[in-house]
Amino acid sequence: MKRILVTGGAGFIGSCVVRRLVEAGNMVVTVDLLTYAGHAESLGTALDVPNHRFEHADIRDRRAVRRIMGLARPHAVIHLAAESHVDRSIDSPLEFVTTNVQGTVALLEAATDYWSGLGNTARRRFRFLHVSTDEVCGSLGSEGAFSESTPHRPNSPYAASKAASDHFARAWHRSFGLPVAISHCSNNYGPYQMPEKLVPVVILAALEGRPIPVYGDGENVRDWLFVEDHARALELILKKGMSGEVYNVGAEAEMTNIRLVRAICARMDTLLPESPHRPHADLIEFVADRPGHDRRYAIDSSRVRRELGWQPAVDLQEGLDLTVRWYLENRWWWRGIRDGGFEDRRRQGLRFG
Ligand SMILES: NC(=O)c1ccc[n+]([C@@H]2O[C@H](COP(=O)([O-])OP(=O)(O)OC[C@H]3O[C@@H](n4cnc5c(N)ncnc54)[C@H](O)[C@@H]3O)[C@@H](O)[C@H]2O)c1
Repeated sequence: MKRILVTGGAGFIGSCVVRRLVEAGNMVVTVDLLTYAGHAESLGTALDVPNHRFEHADIRDRRAVRRIMGLARPHAVIHLAAESHVDRSIDSPLEFVTTNVQGTVALLEAATDYWSGLGNTARRRFRFLHVSTDEVCGSLGSEGAFSESTPHRPNSPYAASKAASDHFARAWHRSFGLPVAISHCSNNYGPYQMPEKLVPVVILAALEGRPIPVYGDGENVRDWLFVEDHARALELILKKGMSGEVYNVGAEAEMTNIRLVRAICARMDTLLPESPHRPHADLIEFVADRPGHDRRYAIDSSRVRRELGWQPAVDLQEGLDLTVRWYLENRWWWRGIRDGGFEDRRRQGLRFG
């Protein structure tokens, strides 16, 4: 059993990571501010077991982060807490700077203080895994893929804030010796993703017969990664990854947005034969492009495959099928977010952990 501190554990990827680590018998402390994107409900049964504790806290709060580090006494930190939506970063970038940059630095400081006080073996084995994105590398042309040594060239305020946080994570390793590993992954999809992100947007609009918005000409290419495969890669990086190194994680599943949207619509046509909105692809509407919209991302993940033995278990067709089914079968979850039901429970003082 390991003791692991997970930040952002009530978010999309974080909740998947926490559910898996708890189920494997680790002692997990989740730190999450429960912003509009965080929902303790996403943690499922992990909320009710003795090997999980939920700490409602802001990673920008240095005192709180230090207190939790002392309480959790972790063997490892997986840092996922972030403002993560590119469109929101264009509308209000400052929150991205404070959480993604300042929050990361507060966490690195607290982790370094805690780690410095450990014995030699524990210090050597400790890991701070900073979870980042391929978006820090900017946009690709029609050929090539990002490698671990591709320079940072962020184009959106979100990507810029993540790039800055990568630099601080690296600097904490070089300047203070903290055993940091950094992961860059491509676009994730799967259960419990916020309804504002592309895959759920398409599913829910199709289900309800609303227009399905597609930015620009829909020819932007993303490399799609099923969230469980990503979580498994993070577990392997923690276990076998080297301190001071960067690991790219991607499923080599490139697809244009418009093809992805059409694939989801086709799944919905099959799964909902009685729907009055079939064929769902008729609901697609091209809308004005996002400013600075990166054209193509692709990730070379040969290093995690070769050195850590990782490979994706779920291909894109299967993953989309699982995801569409999950949204159809778990309406309580996205309705709880959309209709404010989870917020009401929170305001009523419902405690977790
Ligand atoms: N989703 C993707 O496709 C993707 C791809 C590459 C990298 N990433 C990275 O993975 C991480 C998780 O992404 P996600 O999609 O799960 O994001 P998400 O928006 O679903 O979850 C983010 C979580 O962080 C929490 N949080 C936000 N600000 C906080 C603060 N100040 N203090 C404490 N908690 C705070 C939120 O409440 C939420 O639970 C992020 O760092 C993101 O940059 C995501």
